[in-house]
Amino acid sequence: MSLTSPEVSTFAERVPAYLQRLERTTDALLPAASTDPERLHEAMRYACEGGKHLRALMVYAAGETLGVPAEKLDAAACAVELIHAYSLVHDDLPAMDNDDLRRGRPTVHKAYDEAVGILVGDTLQTSAFEVLANTAALDADQKVRMIRALAHASGSLGMVGGQAVDMASENKTLTLAQLESLHARKTGALILVTCQLAGIAANASDVTEQALERYGKRIGLAFQIQDDVLDQIADTATLGKTAGKDLAQHKSTFPSLLGLEQARQRADALFDEARDAARSISHQADPLLWLADFIQQRDH
Ligand code: IPE
Ligand code: IPE
Ligand code: MG
Ligand code: MG
Ligand code: MG
Repeated sequence: MSLTSPEVSTFAERVPAYLQRLERTTDALLPAASTDPERLHEAMRYACEGGKHLRALMVYAAGETLGVPAEKLDAAACAVELIHAYSLVHDDLPAMDNDDLRRGRPTVHKAYDEAVGILVGDTLQTSAFEVLANTAALDADQKVRMIRALAHASGSLGMVGGQAVDMASENKTLTLAQLESLHARKTGALILVTCQLAGIAANASDVTEQALERYGKRIGLAFQIQDDVLDQIADTATLGKTAGKDLAQHKSTFPSLLGLEQARQRADALFDEARDAARSISHQADPLLWLADFIQQRDH
């Protein structure tokens, strides 16, 4: 169904069309699995399959709220999912969380091998910047701003830095402030940048950018608290990844620090604050409100 069909009146109804756009952009970017080196290209595609694609949907939801046409959001939605997919492949490697299961299937290093896992991550990362550089829908200034924002969110002050702190914090008890800072970097940065990319596509004002930032930061932190809660309470079949890993690996998590109930309450309060921030962006922030509800209610 196209985005402009008259019967498609809510963001939820437009989600399948947005996911199709994401699939088309990704498919057009990545080399065919039959292209040399075949095993690497097949594994790149394998790593991008499955998943909820919440980060791409956040780009589209924030963009739609700001009145941006979908073609100006496609590259950003694809780029952030590529960085996310790479982060998962590397997160699962034996040197990091050593996981066998991801999105209900063997992790990349299990389905292929460890070297392929490392290389898939490397090349999905560069592909993310390639798709932004390639798009004809944005002007050069917007592309440079997007590349800068995504690089910053992905790097040592963002996702990778958070992963480094996460690994160094195993078997340690962090303060609440330290744990929030860890989560803000390892997961929050890539979620926040989805809103920033939409803001760049919209040439948003400083005031709007600040409201987007309030929304993105709260969703980002709430999202990882919930990931930690689900790791503890959900089962492996529902999660599509091994349940109970955080406890087994002595990770620093919100439930380990605050207990399950307080961790849940903290996430719920953040979701409420995110909804307030969404309403301050626009009177018609339905896409962002829907996404906050959807993420809050997820079971995997
Ligand atoms: C899982 O993210 C990893 C974290 C950052 C906590 P998602 O739950 O969004 O993973 P997929 O993409 O849907 O598999
Ligand atoms: C990983 O956090 C975050 C990134 C991949 C950057 P987790 O290690 O908690 O993610 P899962 O639970 O394996 O998906
Ligand atoms: Mg991890
Ligand atoms: Mg992990
Ligand atoms: Mg986790």
